[in-house]
Amino acid sequence: MDASPAPAAAPGSSGDPRGGTATVDTPLLSLRGVTKRFGAVQALTDVDLDVPAGMVTALAGDNGAGKSVTIKTISGLWRPDEGEILWNGQVVDIANPDDAADLGITTVYQDLALCDNLDIVQNMFLGHELLRGRALDEDTMEKRARATLADLSVTTVRSVRQPVASLSGGQRQSVAVAKAVMANSKLVILDEPTAALGVAQTRMVLDLVRRLADRGVAVLLISHNLNDVFAVADRVAVLYLGRMVVEAPLSDFDTQSVVDYMTIGRSERATPDRRAAPNGAGSAADRPPTGEGAK
Ligand SMILES: Nc1ncnc2c1ncn2[C@@H]1O[C@H](COP(=O)(O)OP(=O)(O)O)[C@@H](O)[C@H]1O
Ligand SMILES: [Mg+2]
Repeated sequence: MDASPAPAAAPGSSGDPRGGTATVDTPLLSLRGVTKRFGAVQALTDVDLDVPAGMVTALAGDNGAGKSVTIKTISGLWRPDEGEILWNGQVVDIANPDDAADLGITTVYQDLALCDNLDIVQNMFLGHELLRGRALDEDTMEKRARATLADLSVTTVRSVRQPVASLSGGQRQSVAVAKAVMANSKLVILDEPTAALGVAQTRMVLDLVRRLADRGVAVLLISHNLNDVFAVADRVAVLYLGRMVVEAPLSDFDTQSVVDYMTIGRSERATPDRRAAPNGAGSAADRPPTGEGAK
């Protein structure tokens, strides 16, 4: 009965009714021709980006390159002036953060948005508290919080009843990621998650990022730390002055080529990439027609 000719390694069950287009070839999220201006500042120009499920896509770029504007656009804080966002290949309008959350997008910003005075369980269920009758179901929430952390191999937290203020930076990142996991996120965006961390904590968070992708989540990791990129990414996309100058599998890069793309927007070292073509004209075959005529 499973007439699917798909040769790819997708471990999907043969009877999945949604198995058609949205698994192997179609990224969970794509940006197509996204442009964003702030007055005279052109923050993003014609940006394409694919973020597939089950992979870590690193979004790199120097300060001011447009990384934050890109993730704020995906997260519903900004709307593109031009271009479109596709979710499983369908054009979607992410008008506000609620729209993003409804799709299953969770963004862990650098300041983490955890409440210091609340404990781990309270933070993980903030806004989604479980009730038993009219009272909070503390037991179940505590069990689920503990199970999620254990499932993600977060083992250094002594008690889920510790206030978040007492945690280390790495533990805080872990709690923020676990919260995203518990919300059943399909896409998790992490903005420089290791920026404030020491070596061991960085290792812990990167391991967690890897496990998240291995569970089938699409991860978009914002970083200008090349060690992080090479430790954990499957794919690398580099923004330079608001333009996407390269997007390719990690194996196409070495550290020097990533540095080249970040600092001068091109590299002689890497194999030429379709996205490096001037004004992204590329081969029309590998991008869907976007009503891009109006310029
Ligand atoms: N709210 C804003 N108003 C005006 N300009 C902005 C705003 N946010 C970002 N920019 C500009 O957009 C460009 C990209 O910024 P950003 O995405 O924050 O870079 P980064 O890659 O460092 O995260 C920069 O030139 C920045 O000054
Ligand atoms: Mg930024």
